[in-house]
Amino acid sequence: MFTIDTSRTRSFITDQEWNRSKKIVMNASESLDNRTGAGTEWLGWQSILEHPNDALLENMESIGSEINQKADVFIICGIGGSYLGARAVIEALMPDFSDSGPEIIYAGHHISGHYLQRLIAHLEKPKPDGSNKEVYLNVISKSGTTMETAIAFRELRTWMHDRYGDEAVSRIFCTTSKEGGALNKIIRAYGYRKFILPDDVGGRFSVLTPVGLLPIAAAGIDVKQLFYGAVESYGLLNEKRDNVLEYVTARNALYQKGYAIDLLTTFEPALTSMGAWLQQLYGESEGKNGKGLFPSVAQYSTDLHSIGQMVQDGKRNIMETFLTVAMPGETIKVASESYDYDGLNYLTGKSMEEINEKAFQGTVQAHEQGGVPIFTGTLDQLNTESLGHAIYYFELATALFVYSIGENPFDQPGVEAYKKAMYQLLGKEG
Ligand code: PA5
Repeated sequence: MFTIDTSRTRSFITDQEWNRSKKIVMNASESLDNRTGAGTEWLGWQSILEHPNDALLENMESIGSEINQKADVFIICGIGGSYLGARAVIEALMPDFSDSGPEIIYAGHHISGHYLQRLIAHLEKPKPDGSNKEVYLNVISKSGTTMETAIAFRELRTWMHDRYGDEAVSRIFCTTSKEGGALNKIIRAYGYRKFILPDDVGGRFSVLTPVGLLPIAAAGIDVKQLFYGAVESYGLLNEKRDNVLEYVTARNALYQKGYAIDLLTTFEPALTSMGAWLQQLYGESEGKNGKGLFPSVAQYSTDLHSIGQMVQDGKRNIMETFLTVAMPGETIKVASESYDYDGLNYLTGKSMEEINEKAFQGTVQAHEQGGVPIFTGTLDQLNTESLGHAIYYFELATALFVYSIGENPFDQPGVEAYKKAMYQLLGKEG
């Protein structure tokens, strides 16, 4: 389960402001349900949950497990909505320093030649026993034309063909739209296995399609549980969505009164990539026609030592959204030392989980007193089902909030501007 506590935002919103936003958000909710809002041709993120495709889930599981068992290195090549969802789930659920399963490497998410060169050097470095690494590659691009991803894919598939010859074809998996785009031409020419992102699902809403499911399955995560967590959330929030409506109402009210920044943060490093996924989901959906909250990501307590001063004491236009989860069990407890040089003996016997929790509570207290409205989103457990719940919750909240500010949540016209300027500078024809 996933819910958001809005109680620490209410003292920043008057009843009148609340009631005005509530009305707008109720209308937004109706528009979404009646399919009368902007971009209704993009509601596939809901219909995939309304009609789950078990055959697809089984296919993802079986190919994912083939990759998981055979690969030493699995490369996920994509940018924006084509990789952030998978990364969020993988980094939430896979241990940081694992010896089992493939090493997961991201590519195609920027244009650094140094990175790509180092990546290829890493692929070429033999394993400790002297044998070559087994490498598998999943390229993901809805348009099939995104330059960052296309350049990395060109380099990596050339390397794969040099290394494996014809066998490279069985190690390269492509996820793209049914038709169109350069990637489809390449798939036809080389015969790579192809997975389809339905036309009615936008990139940033696509984590529960093959875009996210294949890499997540290849990482060894149960995609059926993840998907059915979202299906359950979809059913529950169709019946009763008070919690989401409250959250979006508070967010709308704060936005209307001038708050400009939504700082997405967590005290659990496993959830930092979830913040990055949400940053893109919010940013690309909201930022239109001079509107929207600027979504920023932080990891606490690390970033309390960099932006903490600004959050506590800077311009009062920031709201914070904490992602929290009760981590199972206790790990390291602070041991006693006879001389107590570091002055930590007062913590003797306390677990790091307990200390982290107190750091979270103390931060919330201090920031609220400093004038920061605070949302707290809680996963009841760090597992696949809860993440499925959170994914659908945030997708729904995004659609509702963007409708509530009068924009289309599902397009991203602004992203084209940098591409146009870049292509012109690079001399691309047409
Ligand atoms: O959410 C979106 O639509 C975008 O962030 C895209 O995912 C991103 O631009 C990558 O595009 P593509 O999948 O076409 O390569």
